[in-house]
Amino acid sequence: MDTNLKQQAAEEAVTRFVRDRMTLGLGTGSTVYFALRKLGEELAAGRLKQIAGVPTSVDTERQAATFGIPLTNLRDHIPLDVTIDGADEVDDDLNLIKGLGGALLREKLVAASSQKLVIIVDESKHVTRLGSHVPLPVEVAQFAWQVQVPFLKSLGAHAQLRMSTATEPYVTDNGNFILDARFPGGIPDVRRVAEALAHRPGVVEHGLFLGMAHAVVLATVGGVQIMTI
Ligand code: A5P
Repeated sequence: MDTNLKQQAAEEAVTRFVRDRMTLGLGTGSTVYFALRKLGEELAAGRLKQIAGVPTSVDTERQAATFGIPLTNLRDHIPLDVTIDGADEVDDDLNLIKGLGGALLREKLVAASSQKLVIIVDESKHVTRLGSHVPLPVEVAQFAWQVQVPFLKSLGAHAQLRMSTATEPYVTDNGNFILDARFPGGIPDVRRVAEALAHRPGVVEHGLFLGMAHAVVLATVGGVQIMTI
């Protein structure tokens, strides 16, 4: 993890993709933090005008307020112009794993309600196969969450309930639990896994974002690259 690279990716995305009078989806995480800060600076300096953002988490809502970014909601602004968000892994086809920060449900809904999804990452997130380094977060209803563990095993994953403390499960902004599903060697067929999860009762959302990103702003030590399909 390189904070400087995160900042470079975030600032490049704001400069390149945000214009006056846009409505924005505001993602979640430590990389998005720098995008929010940059948006706040641009607004304060008058270089950007009449921006409104829809936050994807309670944390982002707080940060956006701190940086003076006007907020709105999806009801009044469909579709949003651009969503800027981070990711946990990105492959060459611009497919993503998201949700290590726990905000995957709102992130996916906001991304799906946007004309453009721009992902900002440092080079440590770029992988050949999704699931190589991080588990796949799966948001599940609290009710009978245990039945999802053998289901995920049938898909090839070892799932663990995400915890907040040694005894308290992590609870999402939407009141659900998260199972972190680790696929040894990565996820061999992301479409098959996404399809199976989409049809599973009790699975509220999952962290595979397939075919959703329009651009990935990838900051490397050699410079910032824009990946597109
Ligand atoms: C939040 O739920 C995630 O999807 C984040 O977008 C992701 O974890 C990236 O976060 P960082 O920028 O902090 O790595």
